[in-house]
Amino acid sequence: MACTEAIKREMEPLLREMERYAEAHYVPILRARERRIFCETVMEACPHRILELGTGIGYSTLVQAMLGAEDVRIVTVEINEARMEAAKGFIGRSPYRDCIEMHFGDAGELLSSLGGTFDFVFMDAAKGQYANYFRLFQPLLAEQAVIAADNVLFHGYVQAKGKIPHKRRSMVQHLREYIEMITHMEGYETVIREDGDGMAITRRVGHEHEKA
Ligand SMILES: C[S@@+](CC[C@H](N)C(=O)[O-])C[C@H]1O[C@@H](n2cnc3c(N)ncnc32)[C@H](O)[C@@H]1O
Repeated sequence: MACTEAIKREMEPLLREMERYAEAHYVPILRARERRIFCETVMEACPHRILELGTGIGYSTLVQAMLGAEDVRIVTVEINEARMEAAKGFIGRSPYRDCIEMHFGDAGELLSSLGGTFDFVFMDAAKGQYANYFRLFQPLLAEQAVIAADNVLFHGYVQAKGKIPHKRRSMVQHLREYIEMITHMEGYETVIREDGDGMAITRRVGHEHEKA
């Protein structure tokens, strides 16, 4: 569906309402500092088929629907029942309700059984699982697909040289492994944008064979 001026006018109050809901219910959504780079990335890719891991209340889902191609279709997954219900409510009130397929459950489990082809993936679910998610959706990527992974710098810990607090260590290690994996993977190019909590933007550029 083309994002006309009339649709933008309809979406504005809904997005503002979602921002207020997120703040009141402590739901993390795309922060203002990451929103710009995220929106630019989606607009540039102009995707037709989007896979989103971590719907939250559907805020980033609707942003992608507005910025994607006219025939955009989105498959999105959320493990938290209350958030999925809220997302259903908000998305159901939007003009994009028929373009978005919502799945309740664990992203890793869903990916094991998902078919289709995606030209854009937004990873925003369990941060420690990014490398695993990538391996699972890799067979579904279109040529020249773009993959955006949020929070890859995790409050600065991922690039920090010193000792990492014990409770953060496993997450930081997993995110470092993800960055290492995608920056050394043949057939893909990755840029880490440091705005906000860090977003890794990976583009599929050719044939992939992991470098030895
Ligand atoms: C940062 S929030 C998503 C925000 C949303 N993408 C936005 O910007 O509007 C991350 C979401 O991922 C969900 N999540 C965490 N682990 C998950 C998993 N294993 N499978 C699916 N969703 C998961 C959380 O419940 C949470 O709602």
